[in-house]
Amino acid sequence: MIPKDLPKAELHCHLEGTIPPSLAKKIAKRNNVELSANLFEDENTYAWDDFASFLDAYDDASLCLRTSKDYRDITYDYLAKCASEGAIYVEVFTSPDHAAECGISYNEHVKGVAQAFDDAEKDYGIIGRAIVTCVRHLGPEKAMSVADSFLDNPHPYFVGFGMGGDEGHLTFDDFKPVFDKIANAGYPCTTHAGEHFGPETILDAIEKLPISRIGHGVRISEDEEAVKVIIKKGIVLEICPGSNVSLGVYKNYSEHPFPYLRNCGCKVTLNSDDPPFFHTNIGKEYENGHVNFGLSIEDLLGITRTAIDAAFINEAEKDKLYAKIDSWEYSG
Ligand code: ADE
Ligand code: ZN
Repeated sequence: MIPKDLPKAELHCHLEGTIPPSLAKKIAKRNNVELSANLFEDENTYAWDDFASFLDAYDDASLCLRTSKDYRDITYDYLAKCASEGAIYVEVFTSPDHAAECGISYNEHVKGVAQAFDDAEKDYGIIGRAIVTCVRHLGPEKAMSVADSFLDNPHPYFVGFGMGGDEGHLTFDDFKPVFDKIANAGYPCTTHAGEHFGPETILDAIEKLPISRIGHGVRISEDEEAVKVIIKKGIVLEICPGSNVSLGVYKNYSEHPFPYLRNCGCKVTLNSDDPPFFHTNIGKEYENGHVNFGLSIEDLLGITRTAIDAAFINEAEKDKLYAKIDSWEYSG
């Protein structure tokens, strides 16, 4: 077992996908919302059996939300849990489209999330920041509207832009104007790519979009030359092994390309994606990295440093986090 307090950092988790069933039910109850009858397999388990039904369940669970305080509560709940797993820094993806679906405005969602970042830092010392994401299968018009809300309402804790959703819909070309607008305004970007589709989609993302990180990107491992390209460009991979195994991208951990990519020299990080859906969390991802990928304590600290290097925050904020990593002592 690795020490629980080993400093960890997470760059890839979907805020609306962090809500555990118990909290979704509690928030739904106080909002008088009836959640879909087949959302749960049992009291503590979401029901889904493939990527499409996972995305549906994730959408349905988020429908419990109604207010800024709901956003505050799910964010605080998540950061408190991450802090108890030893996380010192977490970037959450927020989805204004999901908020809008619940009647929550862009600024109300920002207010709730930002309040939780302040509260969690005060209570646990953990730093939270948000990346605003658009949803690929909702198309470029909605994506542009999310981008405009982001640019028109700057907030110091909302530090970058990204895209999730179904990779099977549309192309990166379709979203180029959206990402270019964000990058021209000076913000860093990431996008999901190469989770369900092959290396060519990752190369396409790098060619078309102004991104420094890729969400997942694991299928780059199928093409040695493509691996060299992302190494040369210094692209950081937000890898989510538990999610990949849960969604069947890989049958098990021994088939997962994390060790291969790391050995090739790719910049890799460990992340939980949608923790309650995949029965994981940031602590388990680090522990699994130790048990299944043979990562030592020093290796894992290196992965935390890589995440901080790639975080969408300034150098002064990074220095405080590096100092936390450097001053941590292994007492095992
Ligand atoms: N949205 C939430 N989880 C996702 C995933 N694993 N891939 C793409 N979009 C997502
Ligand atoms: Zn994701």
